[in-house]
Amino acid sequence: MLLQAEHISLSYGDGDRVAYAVRDISLVIPETGFFGVMGPSGSGKSSLLYLLSGLKRPVAGKVLYKGTDLYALSERERVRLRREKFGFVFQYPYLINYLTVHENLLVAAASADRDAAQKADKLLQQLHIAHLRNSFPTHLSGGERQRLAVARAMMQEPEVIFADEPTAALDHSNGRAVIDLLLAYRDRGAVIVVSHDPLMLQGADRIYYLLDGCLEKVEEGSAAAQPLRTILP
Ligand SMILES: Nc1ncnc2c1ncn2[C@@H]1O[C@H](COP(=O)(O)OP(=O)(O)OP(=O)(O)O)[C@@H](O)[C@H]1O
Ligand SMILES: [Mg+2]
Repeated sequence: MLLQAEHISLSYGDGDRVAYAVRDISLVIPETGFFGVMGPSGSGKSSLLYLLSGLKRPVAGKVLYKGTDLYALSERERVRLRREKFGFVFQYPYLINYLTVHENLLVAAASADRDAAQKADKLLQQLHIAHLRNSFPTHLSGGERQRLAVARAMMQEPEVIFADEPTAALDHSNGRAVIDLLLAYRDRGAVIVVSHDPLMLQGADRIYYLLDGCLEKVEEGSAAAQPLRTILP
């Protein structure tokens, strides 16, 4: 197993006003696959992602990455682990607007050498945005920006990709294209995607349903349910 959450909780606030965003969740994420997280607004989906990725420390319980407690690591080791092994895609991609598309990918590389430059170009081709290589993010459509964010998350070939509502700002066909890219990564690592939209999680290997911070149910999907579609430009 790659990631294991053992009875993790997260609360916000202190004193008499403690609100639990995540309550006593345990789960196991295998090395590869596409895993969905669903639930109403405020149910704790983003919080769960922050806990699993070591961005937030659980108030109770543990998150183990390959058997190691994320918080048994020093802050520095944890940051390095996140940088090297985890990739992130957020609802509104944080891109660097004064760098070109290609340069935005290079900043995600461990070193900006020729290999990294070639890898960036290959990803841009795979995501059908190679023609935008020298453009700036502000000149891109929402769908193009989100594909660039996915490319950036894949630059380091992470073992886990965490995506929080990566399609929420997109129309259906652009959203589908982004999901198809993430689905295509399922054989290379674990892809964990938060979405409101059940259509975007079709074909997931497993879906975690959250309600009020609790894990309500886990649905096992059939990996073969959805043939991979070609990516639309
Ligand atoms: N920084 C914070 N301070 C206080 N409470 C917070 C904070 N962040 C989140 N919460 C609360 O924790 C709960 C879970 O929030 P979270 O963002 O994880 O939900 P979510 O399922 O991702 O919602 P959405 O679908 O709207 O993104 C909510 O009740 C929210 O109000
Ligand atoms: Mg959220």
